[in-house]
Amino acid sequence: MLQPAENAGPARNIILAGFMGSGKTTIGRELARMLDRELVDTDREVARRHGMSIAAVFERYGEDRFREWEAEVALELAMLRNLVVATGGGTLMNDRVFKELNVYGFTAYLRCPFETLYARISQNGKHRPLIESCGKEGLRKLLAEREPRYRQAHLEVYANGFSPISIAKVIYHAFKS
Ligand code: S3P
Repeated sequence: MLQPAENAGPARNIILAGFMGSGKTTIGRELARMLDRELVDTDREVARRHGMSIAAVFERYGEDRFREWEAEVALELAMLRNLVVATGGGTLMNDRVFKELNVYGFTAYLRCPFETLYARISQNGKHRPLIESCGKEGLRKLLAEREPRYRQAHLEVYANGFSPISIAKVIYHAFKS
């Protein structure tokens, strides 16, 4: 059964951070399998709790409300252990959320060049309302603004050009050592 985290022991959560398209969910799935853990995706959890897609949350309630709901989910996850958490690209920009997840868990930033990220997300942008509202140059700027935060993670992995399994293995070994 899941229990509140008390310290940064071996059961601490692994939190995957990075921009849209960096592979957090795909790599998280591999990692969860390797560790025999549950994968929780913050976007999926927000959508499940509120009974609507992320795009619908943005459309009906706006980004600020989405950020509130996202933070609520993330702060709850920070109190649990033994999870692999795939965050949304903006989840860790909330200072309190970052602090709680980073103190109690092991954070890993999946770094990718912007052009790779953009190519991936523009192919699959249905649940990513920011793609339309920001445009390519806006997204490039957003990544630059967010990078300093992502880089505060415990681990930074170059996640371009490697298979999800091999990236998951790098994170697995860093976590275990
Ligand atoms: C967002 C990223 C998305 C989702 C929402 C906002 C962001 O998640 O949370 O569309 O602010 O970068 P992914 O990073 O999983 O695409």
